[in-house]
Amino acid sequence: MKIVVVGGSGLIGTKLVHNLRQRGHEVVAASRASGINAMTGEGLAEAMTGAQVLVDVSNSPSFEDKPVMEFFETTGRNLLAAETAAGVAHHVALSVVGTDRLLASGYFRAKMAQENLIKASGIPFTIVRATQFFEFVGAIAQSATEGETVRLPPAMMQPIVSDDVASILADIAVGPPLNGTVDIAGPEPIRMDELVRRYLAATHDSREVTTDAGARYYGTEVKDQSLTPGDIPRLGPTRFEDWLSGSITQG
Ligand SMILES: NC(=O)c1ccc[n+]([C@@H]2O[C@H](COP(=O)([O-])OP(=O)(O)OC[C@H]3O[C@@H](n4cnc5c(N)ncnc54)[C@H](OP(=O)(O)O)[C@@H]3O)[C@@H](O)[C@H]2O)c1
Repeated sequence: MKIVVVGGSGLIGTKLVHNLRQRGHEVVAASRASGINAMTGEGLAEAMTGAQVLVDVSNSPSFEDKPVMEFFETTGRNLLAAETAAGVAHHVALSVVGTDRLLASGYFRAKMAQENLIKASGIPFTIVRATQFFEFVGAIAQSATEGETVRLPPAMMQPIVSDDVASILADIAVGPPLNGTVDIAGPEPIRMDELVRRYLAATHDSREVTTDAGARYYGTEVKDQSLTPGDIPRLGPTRFEDWLSGSITQG
């Protein structure tokens, strides 16, 4: 198959492109780095010619309310229009578990807008909602740091490693469109404060995590049900502890 991966140079995109090429597919790694800009439309029509599937794993360079909404609305419209013109038969997009429960955040309002455009497009689709990536835990710590203190709520999470996200996305990309949403998550539930505490300990970071039920996650209140997957998620096999020890050995 010919598959276009938008955001093909990113964390998930690089792994997804590699995985699909290993399986023998013709893959276009589309991003500004390869001259394809989903904001302006540059290079889209050419990239899409003859493609059966498009997987959108792009992300906004800015997470501020206005630019992030502009990114997901504009790129969403441009991609879907180019796919319609080229007759692409399956649009796969990576979104976030709980997007509809986190709308107090501008980032999640933008992801919701992206999902709604896909559902209204008429193109057969699969929306894959993932939980937070293991690789994102450092950023969570950073976003909640004041001085030497990291203030976080004890909300339940079920994070997943990027390799497992890429591998599940590759399966879905070569399968039939679900015209629906699938949640994917890691193998184990863990509370946010504890997750970050383990990460900081393993990376010999001296910051202290303070548990605070009222602390916000990127500006949003989160409870146990906010970030955890629905009833029948697909699970990646990699455990956080195994990733921590592996990633630290690799330096
Ligand atoms: N982080 C998490 O824990 C998490 C959890 C669940 C879901 N997600 C979702 O996963 C997706 C991918 O995340 P990621 O961490 O892999 O992203 P990333 O590493 O930041 O990569 C973003 C990609 O988007 C591309 N891009 C940016 N602007 C573009 C444009 N105008 N046109 C075309 N490509 C553009 C970038 O390439 P260039 O700079 O070369 O353009 C890059 O390849 C996001 O949609 C996010 O919402 C993330």
